[in-house]
Amino acid sequence: MSSFWNWYIGIIAVANILACVWLIRWTAKKRPDEKAAHETTGHEWDGLTELNNPMPRWWLWLFYATIVFGLIYLVLYPSFGSYQGLLGWSQYSEWEQEVAETEERVAPLFQEYAEIPIPELAGHSDAMQTGRRLFDNNCAVCHGVDGGGRPGFPNIANNVWNWGGEPEQIYKSILDGRRGVMPGLGGALGDEGVEKVAAYTFSLSGRDAPEELVSAGEELYQQRCAACHQADGSGNPAMGAPNLTDDNWIYGGSLEAIKTSIREGRQGVMPAQKDLLGEDRVHVLAAYVYSLSMDERDAEVNGEETADAGGDE
Ligand code: HEC
Ligand code: HEC
Repeated sequence: MSSFWNWYIGIIAVANILACVWLIRWTAKKRPDEKAAHETTGHEWDGLTELNNPMPRWWLWLFYATIVFGLIYLVLYPSFGSYQGLLGWSQYSEWEQEVAETEERVAPLFQEYAEIPIPELAGHSDAMQTGRRLFDNNCAVCHGVDGGGRPGFPNIANNVWNWGGEPEQIYKSILDGRRGVMPGLGGALGDEGVEKVAAYTFSLSGRDAPEELVSAGEELYQQRCAACHQADGSGNPAMGAPNLTDDNWIYGGSLEAIKTSIREGRQGVMPAQKDLLGEDRVHVLAAYVYSLSMDERDAEVNGEETADAGGDE
């Protein structure tokens, strides 16, 4: 709040209190003396008259007591400009204290969880409830409540990973964040080049594209793209280059979306959580994210094919 508003409020508060003092004294002065106590005000309705009795003393003292209370309050709590109040209370310090108390209560629990390896913790139902809450509060805005993602924000609930799906890799993705850098190649390739290499990329995931574009595009792909996405299109988790041969896309797998990715490039940013949540909470979150793909992991271990698995070999 600007100091103008601080003073505005403070001065109005004091003026009000002073006005109350004046009002009480003024009415008290006008008290009829005790002898005339049973005078009427002169008002009369149908034979009923209004007596002009003084206010009872205790009532008056109650007014004075509220005024004293108000003044003490102004001295104890922040009331003017940058005046902090004798108690040093502030909404912020109250909030800070609550946070510190909560932290003190839950820190030992998180430290305990931090000792448990991620795949094991993923099966721990209390820890996963905590993980779910952390996820809802910190991750769901981008990755969706179920971790299923949306255009621009990857699905992290399946077993397809751009930065690797090993427990340590997931932990690192969350702790330090990730920054995907795909350069825009529209200028270098020209419109025709983009058409060709997009057709080839489209065909990598087993879909039909015009044959002559695909074969012309393959050569361009090997020159321009293979360094990052690998010669076979399987991607490179070291730089977060996605696998282009599966049916899993951050930005969409339509021909148009692929062309846009190539022409303009893509720079997805996963914000680092280290300073926001700290290592112990990130450990629980990594286990929670790991748990989302556990069914698919088990199925893969058992040699079963799943709908969209296959990006993490
Ligand atoms: C310097 C490394 C690099 C080069 C060269 C490169 N890419 Fe990429 N590409 C990436 C990275 C990293 C991403 C992920 C960007 C992100 O996460 O935001 C990506 C993303 C993509 C996507 C989006 C994938 C999705 O899931 O939506 C497509 C399509 C793509 N690249 C195709 C190509 C093609 C085709 C070429 C060659 C013309 C190419 N890339 C060249 C690194 C590269
Ligand atoms: C501001 C949006 C945003 C928030 C909030 C966010 N993420 Fe992300 N996350 C992203 C983007 C974008 C990427 C993809 C980065 C890239 O392009 O490679 C990503 C990538 C990831 C990856 C790597 C996925 C892979 O395929 O390897 C993991 C794991 C992840 N996020 C987990 C989390 C968790 C857990 C949280 C909550 C603490 C979280 N994210 C919060 C945007 C976000």
